[in-house]
Amino acid sequence: MKTQNLQFDDICRLLEDDSAEELYALADGITRETKGDMVNVRAIIEFSNYCNRNCSYCGLNCHNTTLGRYRMTPEEIIATAIEASDAGYKTVVIQGGEDPWFTTDIYCHIIKEIKSKRDIAITLSAGEMREEDYSAIRKAGCDRYLLKHETTDENIYKKLHPGYNVEDRLNCLRVLKRLGFETGGGFMIGLPEQTIETIANDLLFIQSVPCDMAGIGPFIPHPETPLKEAGQGSTELTRRAVAIARILLPNINLPATTSLGVIDKDERNKVFSGGANVIMKKVTPEKYRELYEIYPVNHGKIKSIAEERAEINELLASIGKEWD
Ligand code: 5AD
Repeated sequence: MKTQNLQFDDICRLLEDDSAEELYALADGITRETKGDMVNVRAIIEFSNYCNRNCSYCGLNCHNTTLGRYRMTPEEIIATAIEASDAGYKTVVIQGGEDPWFTTDIYCHIIKEIKSKRDIAITLSAGEMREEDYSAIRKAGCDRYLLKHETTDENIYKKLHPGYNVEDRLNCLRVLKRLGFETGGGFMIGLPEQTIETIANDLLFIQSVPCDMAGIGPFIPHPETPLKEAGQGSTELTRRAVAIARILLPNINLPATTSLGVIDKDERNKVFSGGANVIMKKVTPEKYRELYEIYPVNHGKIKSIAEERAEINELLASIGKEWD
C-alpha cells in the first residue's frame, strides 16, 4: 500500500474492512519507525467547566443546568502544572470550556508564570478565539493548541452546534497552524448521521492542515444532553480511524483517547499497537474532577498526581511501551 497517498475511496474501504488486522499492523510498523516504543504521557488540567457553547453532545454545554459549575483560579492552575512537572510530566494540557472569565490576558499570565517556573510544554485547549488572541497566547509562550473540529460535515456540525459554522471551526485550526502552534485537531466517531464518508473527510481534513496531533474518540451519550438517546460510537471503527491517521501522517501525535478508555480499557490499550503514541492523564484537583463531565465517567479512587503518574508508567510497561 502506498501509504501517505491514500485517497478518499481507499480510506472508506479501510474503514469498512471488518478484518483490519493488516491495517493495524501497517500502522504499528509506521509508529515504530517514527516513534519507537515511546508513548508521551501528558497531564491534563481541566480548569473550568463553564462554557458558552451549546454543543449538543457535551455535558458541559450551557443549557445543562443540572451541572455544578467550577472555575480554578490562575494560581491553582499554575500550582497544578508545577506539581505535574515535578511528577515527571513534560507537557501540560490546560483545557476548559469557552469560559469568558478567562480573558486572553489571563491565559497569557498563566502561560508565562508556568514557563518561568518549569521547563514544560504547554498546550491550551479553550475553544475558538480571534486570531489576535491566539497570536498573543502564542507570543506568551504557549507551544500547542488543541481544538477538535468534531466533524467536517456542514450539516451535522450545524445540528450539533446551532448557530455556529463549521468553516469558522476549521479555519481556527488553519490559523493556529500558521501562527506556529503545534496544532491538534480531532473528531468523534459515532455522531448521529455520521457515515464512513464523513469520517474519511475528517481524516483528509486532518491531513490537509496538516495537524500535528489528532484526538479521535468514540462519542459517548450524556444523559443531560439532547443526544442522550443516541448510540455510543464504535471502538473498532475508532481504532481503524486512528490507524488510518497514522498512515496518512506518519509523524503525527495520536492519543489513545480518554473516551475510548472509558468505554473499554482493553480497546484503549490495543490502540497502542495500531497507531497511537500519546495518552492524557487527568491531574485536575480531586474536588473538581467529577464536575468536568463531558460524558459520564467512573473516576474510581483518585490518588495523588505522582501516584497516578506511576500507575500510567506501569500500565505502559505492561504493554511493552516506554514513556516520556
Ligand atoms: N462523547 C465523546 N467525546 C466528547 N467530547 C465532548 N462530548 C463528548 C461526548 N459526549 C469531546 C469533544 C471535545 C473534547 C473535549 O471532548 O471532541 O472536543
